[in-house]
Amino acid sequence: MLTTEHHDEAATPTGARPVVVPAAGGDRADGPGRPRVVLGVGGGIAAYKACELLRRFTESGHDVTVVPTASALQFVGAPTWAALSGRPVADDVWTGVHEVPHVRIGQQADLVVVAPCTADLLAKAAHGLADDLLTNTLLTARCPVVLAPAMHTEMWEHPATRANVETLRSRGVVVVEPASGRLTGADTGKGRLPDPAELFEVASDVLLRGPVAPDLAGRRLVVSAGGTREPLDPVRFLGNRSSGRQGYALARAAVARGAAVTLVAANVDLPDPAGADVVRVSTTAELHDAVVAAAATADAVVMAAAPADFRPVAVSGAKIKKAADGSAPSIELEQNPDILHAISHDRARPGSVVVGFAAETGDETGSVLDLARAKLARKGCDLLVVNDVSGGAVFGSPDNEAVVLGADGGVREVPRGTKGALAHVIWDEVARRFAP
Ligand code: CTP
Repeated sequence: MLTTEHHDEAATPTGARPVVVPAAGGDRADGPGRPRVVLGVGGGIAAYKACELLRRFTESGHDVTVVPTASALQFVGAPTWAALSGRPVADDVWTGVHEVPHVRIGQQADLVVVAPCTADLLAKAAHGLADDLLTNTLLTARCPVVLAPAMHTEMWEHPATRANVETLRSRGVVVVEPASGRLTGADTGKGRLPDPAELFEVASDVLLRGPVAPDLAGRRLVVSAGGTREPLDPVRFLGNRSSGRQGYALARAAVARGAAVTLVAANVDLPDPAGADVVRVSTTAELHDAVVAAAATADAVVMAAAPADFRPVAVSGAKIKKAADGSAPSIELEQNPDILHAISHDRARPGSVVVGFAAETGDETGSVLDLARAKLARKGCDLLVVNDVSGGAVFGSPDNEAVVLGADGGVREVPRGTKGALAHVIWDEVARRFAP
């Protein structure tokens, strides 16, 4: 297909998805259904990025209490947090003592997120130290906790920090992998706070599902996402509008379940999923090469990308000009490789699981499911995730619904829900097919 939009997703002005269901709750002074989030902010330069995360939470209907440490307030002041959250800032245990804030804030939270989380905060959380309001809150919270560390690479790699992260993860705390790139000052390396938009997605998934078990630990998984572009000349290309959101949700869900994830992204304008290894490509040929290379050591490959099926036979080195006589140029096309077919029929790793996607409308030759079953057999994959796109369903929708067909005859209907929810169902089906 040349112009198909795979599994696109609508968004609020900040891209923040409105929250539907809180994981836990209680009596609310401000009405039911508004998830209560505690945003802890540690003393790191990345504190400014937490402002954007806060805005995403509030704009999508969360009730956020910001708990900055004393060091965090050196970077971003209390008025900023108060204005963005619409609430007083909770920054010390001695204000409003009669309301016992060091216990109440943690007890009443549906989710605690600490971003940025310093090496010092990780150490205190791992060892149960509680010498300020945020560390007290971490000890009293019984809801899911997400920590997003940001620090210099040396601090992240120090054995003390590694041990603290392991301890926290073994207790069910979600510790997000830092991103790599420019750090404070001139140096680069692992330790950056992931993009706030990505942190928001991770936190929303945890709020919806709670922390997930690491049942894919030890697995190497490959996901393709986005839409390929075939150049016509230096400024034009044939492409499609695939956003890459479903593929990114798959990568995020797999990382959360402990897998080593390679995400092959074709022209996707989204922040990298934290903890995934992202390979960027543009054309179908590049996507083919990157997926085949990654599949060589993978336990499973999910082709969520929308590759262009055809490419121009010749790519003009110079910009194609309008003809003086008003005639339009003809573009001769040739077929691109079918990546899903290739990796399904020539499995580099015996026993690996291959998953395809299909957006179908049904026609005079058959229903959506008839066509999908024929495609599943033709492609040779183990699972096919089928979207019924009759009447433009899925496109531009914040949600997705699908039927997952198995080569073994299995049929699993996935009701309308988030792309993260569909991603988890797909990994459930993949995990069931792994040899014990
Ligand atoms: N796909 C692929 N390589 C291609 C085209 C598609 O790997 N050159 C994969 C897609 O990533 C998707 C699946 O094949 O997982 C089905 O894509 P679809 O476009 O529905 O398949 P086509 O073979 O192009 O079928 P159709 O002729 O119905 O468009």
